[in-house]
Amino acid sequence: MRTPTIDKSEIQAQRAVMELIKSSNPGRKALVETYGCQQNVNDSQRLMGMLTEMGYTLTDDREEADLILMNTCAVRDNAEQRVFGNLGALKHLKARKPELIIGVCGCMPQQELVAEKIRAKYRHVDLIFGTHALYRFPSLLAEALEHRSRVLDIGGEGAIAEGLPVLYEGGAKAFVSVMYGCNNFCSYCIVPYVRGRERSRLADDVVAEVRELAGRGVKEVMLLGQNVNSYGNDRGETDAFAGLLRRVGEIDGIERIRFMSSHPKDISESLLEAMAECPKVCRQLHLPLQSGSDKVLKDMNRRYTAERYREIVRRVRELMPGLSLTTDIIVGFPTEERADFEETLKMLRDIRFDSIFSFIFSPREGTPAAKMESAAADGEKSAWFQEMLDVQNEISAEINSRCVGEIQEILVEGESKHEPDMLSGRNYANKIVNFRGDGSLKDKLVKVKITKAQTWILYGEQA
Ligand code: SAM
Ligand code: SF4
Ligand code: F3S
Repeated sequence: MRTPTIDKSEIQAQRAVMELIKSSNPGRKALVETYGCQQNVNDSQRLMGMLTEMGYTLTDDREEADLILMNTCAVRDNAEQRVFGNLGALKHLKARKPELIIGVCGCMPQQELVAEKIRAKYRHVDLIFGTHALYRFPSLLAEALEHRSRVLDIGGEGAIAEGLPVLYEGGAKAFVSVMYGCNNFCSYCIVPYVRGRERSRLADDVVAEVRELAGRGVKEVMLLGQNVNSYGNDRGETDAFAGLLRRVGEIDGIERIRFMSSHPKDISESLLEAMAECPKVCRQLHLPLQSGSDKVLKDMNRRYTAERYREIVRRVRELMPGLSLTTDIIVGFPTEERADFEETLKMLRDIRFDSIFSFIFSPREGTPAAKMESAAADGEKSAWFQEMLDVQNEISAEINSRCVGEIQEILVEGESKHEPDMLSGRNYANKIVNFRGDGSLKDKLVKVKITKAQTWILYGEQA
């Protein structure tokens, strides 16, 4: 078994290109717009790290940017449409400012047909590259800057690239990818096609990165992978994530550890034990269910049953009472009928998740589910979706209301976006807690007594 890894000399070559661009950079500004999941946020931090090394200043303002890079997501049609809409809007800016470089990267251009559409219909885009070419960004940019011609780098295989700069921008919180890609091929999902096969970073590299983060004042890390339960499998290891969790738990300065996602089909007893035994691992688990119907789960190629899922939840709660549980649900999978949907509602009522991330099924070209005939009409699916939200909102509000009176530890992120006279942070369950306090508490862990609860947010006062 071999995990493809980019040779050090190649990374060095990219570093040399970064130096070269920096030496002739007259103070250009760059904007990176990120769509999609935490892995993309993490990738954008790499792109921003490289841009900073190349002498770029980062900006949020499209008007003043000399380079606009869209790091895209392909998981649902609405994510892609948003990118196409935003790309269309940049046409006028490019006409006014021809030296502006516009790039599209990430999961969308990793699909050949989409890359072709961008190339053919959005002629103001200069740079198109997929997820597998991320580490080559400096040389692609150099080509675009030097030749002023369109540059395309898609396809290929994914590999691990260590040693690239990263711009951490989350204060006391950071994302750390432990693996890339996915081998599961759930029948609805585009991710394995755009992210390639599973590749795990070496535990030593992950631990070194987390140590460095702790040295910079990071207190909370979220370990990322599409299915962290198979971390290490590509290197011939079994159940390696539990060991990694324990090693990260020993790093001084790190106070909180989270991870996502976990596939229920291969969550292991040793992982649950590692969670339970490591006090720094937050009492929180994101365990995507997708559907409560065995028929639909089978058609989704999820490879577990509703009963197996219930069994895992029982065990998790036995080992970690009070653990906060969240999930992902897809409504309107082609073979889903009303009776299947009702089984999902029953699961929600029985399990009582703290919250759910729910999506209406979106056919993705190239996946098996995109070719399946749909049992329910679109209008019906939207009605089910709303019905499910109503059921869940009541449960979430009820669970939150039970927190009133508790003293919880909050990692303060700063001023609340919507209530600027308040500070905002997250509790162990990753729920937002707002309270009044001094700005100097930012990035600190603070004890807060919960005084009021709403469906999505808790309020409190410093204890
Ligand atoms: N690997 C993770 C997992 O298996 O749970 C997350 C994958 S994906 C980035 C996040 C969620 O998007 C999935 O859990 C699923 O609920 C949803 N999703 C993926 N493909 C979808 C599709 N074609 N239509 C609607 N939702 C989709
Ligand atoms: Fe997609 Fe399934 Fe892989 Fe998650 S586990 S990324 S849903 S294929
Ligand atoms: Fe989207 Fe790619 Fe993540 S498709 S959800 S950004 S892995």
